[in-house]
Amino acid sequence: MSQPLLKLTGVTKTFGGIHALSNMVCEVPEGQIIGVIGPNGAGKTTLFNTITGAYRADAGQVTLKGVDVTQWPSYRIVREGIARTFQNIRLFSSMTVWEHLLVAQPHGEAAWRRLLPIAWANPAAQARATEVMEFFGLTAFRDRPAKSLPYGIQRKVEMARAVTAKPKLLLLDEPVAGMNHDEAEEIRSLMLRLRDTGLSILLIEHDMNFVMRLCDYLYVLDFGVLIAEGKPDDVRANPVVLDAYLGKDD
Ligand SMILES: Nc1ncnc2c1ncn2[C@@H]1O[C@H](COP(=O)(O)OP(=O)(O)OP(=O)(O)O)[C@@H](O)[C@H]1O
Ligand SMILES: [Mg+2]
Repeated sequence: MSQPLLKLTGVTKTFGGIHALSNMVCEVPEGQIIGVIGPNGAGKTTLFNTITGAYRADAGQVTLKGVDVTQWPSYRIVREGIARTFQNIRLFSSMTVWEHLLVAQPHGEAAWRRLLPIAWANPAAQARATEVMEFFGLTAFRDRPAKSLPYGIQRKVEMARAVTAKPKLLLLDEPVAGMNHDEAEEIRSLMLRLRDTGLSILLIEHDMNFVMRLCDYLYVLDFGVLIAEGKPDDVRANPVVLDAYLGKDD
């Protein structure tokens, strides 16, 4: 089998006495959608923060195409092809959709403001922003400031912005949280189309039905521990998962 795009081995992260992640192992093969599920506080967002270098792992290894990136700073990991969205939307409220898409994955508002005038003058950045805006069906909102957009559209802008960077791996932290059924279905079809372009996706999501119908493979976390993994149908039938996750959620 070919080398996975992303691989975690024994990744551990503690905060004081809290074991947010214990000995986590997982793999994201190229061109697949991999799901991470688990109850509140299971360590899902911590997993993303550890992969992206926002948190430093206490132990274990994160490799990207076989290269150990565990100690790399976030900006280098972004440059290497990992982009993410956040559980709580992080848009710049007075800036337009277009301005968000011109600057791919900046580190904070100051960096973004510095890069924006450069991007305005860059035909390649404009072409990419236009392409992504059309792909996500955001063209009608081009000149609207983020704060004026409906919640579901804001979520799409957050995702589109991450895609603008042409990542190899996209990390999505609950992209359909708070969305209605139609909005969530649209995100699902966008994710499938993104996968068809060769992008790999690691998805955190609470909605089990959504995950089951979308993911090629699932990892289930509970209290920072990987309690199950497998194809969606196997995970759905796993009593350990039903007990730890489904039982609590509904
Ligand atoms: N920066 C931090 N400082 C202290 N504790 C943290 C920090 N980040 C996460 N934790 C703790 O680590 C555990 C896992 O949190 P995490 O946010 O990863 O869970 P989650 O699975 O994403 O939950 P949710 O479904 O609610 O988003 C929790 O107990 C949380 O309080
Ligand atoms: Mg979370």
